[in-house]
Amino acid sequence: MKEHKTSSGEQTQALGADFAAGLSPGAVVCMHGPLGAGKTTFIQGVASFLGIQEAVTSPTFTIASAYEGSLPLYHIDVYRIDSVEEFELLGLEEYIYGKGLTFIEWSEKVEEALPSRLIHITIGINDDGTRTIVIGEPEEEP
Ligand SMILES: Nc1ncnc2c1ncn2[C@@H]1O[C@H](COP(=O)(O)OP(=O)(O)OP(=O)(O)O)[C@@H](O)[C@H]1O
Ligand SMILES: [Mg+2]
Repeated sequence: MKEHKTSSGEQTQALGADFAAGLSPGAVVCMHGPLGAGKTTFIQGVASFLGIQEAVTSPTFTIASAYEGSLPLYHIDVYRIDSVEEFELLGLEEYIYGKGLTFIEWSEKVEEALPSRLIHITIGINDDGTRTIVIGEPEEEP
């Protein structure tokens, strides 16, 4: 478990790019943290590491997006999903069990439907607006 602090969106993106450099194909990463914490921002850094030119955003009604880079990037945001059944009906196995990198925002809603090997990243907003970004498993408290 590693803890980082960032003071701007650019720094959060840079951390995402550094993190992506250490990932193996097929990695599934769960992004935790409140609304506006910087989950999508972190994933934008991953996209830049993969050489993806297209902008990574979170359109309100889009649950999953695929981007072609040096590895495929799958960005899944289940904020609007209400049940594990609803998630399973989306048929995202090709993404999640594929050779790309998969990042899932609000994954705690559907964790039962995810593979057992997950990397967890938790972003917290500090009182001064900086972000504390913990890479590891949130359930493993020291
Ligand atoms: N360390 C930081 N300090 C200040 N602002 C930051 C920092 N990191 C990210 N931000 C800003 O916070 C905002 C985070 O928005 P973002 O869409 O990434 O959040 P999110 O966690 O994906 O939210 P949602 O749950 O709504 O999808 C962006 O405007 C980003 O620039
Ligand atoms: Mg987001």
